[in-house]
Amino acid sequence: MLKIKNVSKTFNLGTINEKKALKNINLTLEDGDFVTIIGGNGAGKSTLMNMVAGVYPIDCGHIYLDDDDISLDPEYKRASRIGHVFQDPMMGTAADMSIQENLAMAARRGKRRGLGWGVKKSELETYRKELKKLGLGLESRMTSKVGLLSGGQRQAITLLMATLTKPKVLLLDEHTAALDPATSSKVLMLTNKIVDEMHLTTMMVTHNMQDAIDVGNRLIMMYDGQIIYDVKGEEKKKLTVNDLLKKFEEASGSEFVNDRMLLG
Ligand SMILES: Nc1ncnc2c1ncn2[C@@H]1O[C@H](COP(=O)(O)OP(=O)(O)O)[C@@H](O)[C@H]1O
Ligand SMILES: [Mg+2]
Repeated sequence: MLKIKNVSKTFNLGTINEKKALKNINLTLEDGDFVTIIGGNGAGKSTLMNMVAGVYPIDCGHIYLDDDDISLDPEYKRASRIGHVFQDPMMGTAADMSIQENLAMAARRGKRRGLGWGVKKSELETYRKELKKLGLGLESRMTSKVGLLSGGQRQAITLLMATLTKPKVLLLDEHTAALDPATSSKVLMLTNKIVDEMHLTTMMVTHNMQDAIDVGNRLIMMYDGQIIYDVKGEEKKKLTVNDLLKKFEEASGSEFVNDRMLLG
């Protein structure tokens, strides 16, 4: 499904700010894998997602999607097959457009035809049905501007937009981190439901270690641009936050005390 092979990324090469963000990453996701990713600030989690989405070019290595080598494809070309949701609820949606216009834009992603400012009746019915599934009452506010919604509502819509046409891979980069705890767990539940129902291959970065254990079928831990721990199935289910802290400590020495990951 998704294969990342020998991928490295250095930012600001040859300058005083040179930073090896990814160091020879190898990772293969099977169809339907739901991988949670944890690691401290600056570990390379977002960079890994950005490499898959094509936000920046990779320095070396290859990324394959269904055996297609997409390493050189620009972000817009990958967008029809890769859903990407970020931490900031303002980023995924257009505030000045209505809920239904936002969804229509998402439905046309990667297609030749633009909005043309016509949203068909049949489409509206589909959107209404999908919005209803979110359980937030948004199906009765489809013409409301997205800018009027709360962060949690916007993030739920972003999630819907990213999955409206089934992506080959769904990338979630701390997509619940900016929300209050109650909304965050609601959006996480929605995430689980959508991923499960659509059988989506998913990578989710979280700083909440318990969420990382509870959600998905596989967990990886990153440190200093590398994958230092990769666990799945029954072994993953048995993990405790304490186990993860110990793993992290092994890799990083005593630094973990200062790490944001601890706050999860
Ligand atoms: N666009 C960029 N330009 C320069 N440095 C970057 C850029 N993106 C990330 N980095 C650096 O790469 C490292 C990994 O960052 P990132 O992948 O965002 O970490 P994480 O998401 O795990 O917190 C950090 O040291 C960060 O400062
Ligand atoms: Mg990040």
